[in-house]
Amino acid sequence: MATLFIGQNKIFLTEVDSTNSYASSLLKNVNPPEGTVVYTSNQTQGRGQRGNSWKAEPSRNITLSLILKPTFLSVEKAFYLSKIAALAIHDVLTELAPPGQIDIKIKWPNDILLNRKKTAGILIENSFKENSMANCVTGIGLNVNQEDFGELNASATSLLKELSRRFDLEELMERLFVHYEKRYLQLKAGRFAQLNDDYLGRLFMLNESASFEDRLGRFEAKVKGVGENGLLLLDRGARTEQFDVKEIRMIY
Ligand code: BTN
Repeated sequence: MATLFIGQNKIFLTEVDSTNSYASSLLKNVNPPEGTVVYTSNQTQGRGQRGNSWKAEPSRNITLSLILKPTFLSVEKAFYLSKIAALAIHDVLTELAPPGQIDIKIKWPNDILLNRKKTAGILIENSFKENSMANCVTGIGLNVNQEDFGELNASATSLLKELSRRFDLEELMERLFVHYEKRYLQLKAGRFAQLNDDYLGRLFMLNESASFEDRLGRFEAKVKGVGENGLLLLDRGARTEQFDVKEIRMIY
């Protein structure tokens, strides 16, 4: 298995606060080639979405950040970087799991669920130049060989817990890079319809009713899709409404 650029330049750190922060400082101080991956066996202050933290037991999980330079992409299409990250993880998990054994879904915007529990999270940090993208740091936390999530056991899981086997972290990472590069090249080739179809086809609760919570309280709505801008489309009564990730949370 080989890639052209993703993972060709790898920086391993025995310990770091956050691989995303490290990758961002690389972009400020040196000019790392596109496809550079920063990874660690012990991330001490992992950052998640909405200001949350990301905790991963040392040496049992994948914690990495990938540096991309998608200068071909307009700012309005930035959400495709989330889509390809989620699809690449979904692709690799699909390859590993025996067919039909587990349910693998993308929960908007880009969590990966195995049997309805979170096994991977993605934190994307972009920079822009005029109306185009400049740099993109995609941080991926993938729970692999961790057995216990403590108080999060009801909502978090790992490949080990769902597939009852351990995985070699380096090998898994290399497989992920192959899928990631394939998805990134689809994006570069402008295959938006294909990426949208693939993303929607794997979306958790698509065309189903689910419970949500916003600042006004809880409500039921049917998941109708995700717009180009990354907003979640919900049918609520007779209307279709759009929601930003900061305003709403699914309860499942
Ligand atoms: C989330 O689901 O909230 C996103 C979690 C992202 C975690 C990864 S682990 C590697 C990278 N470095 C970080 O500090 N965060 C991301």
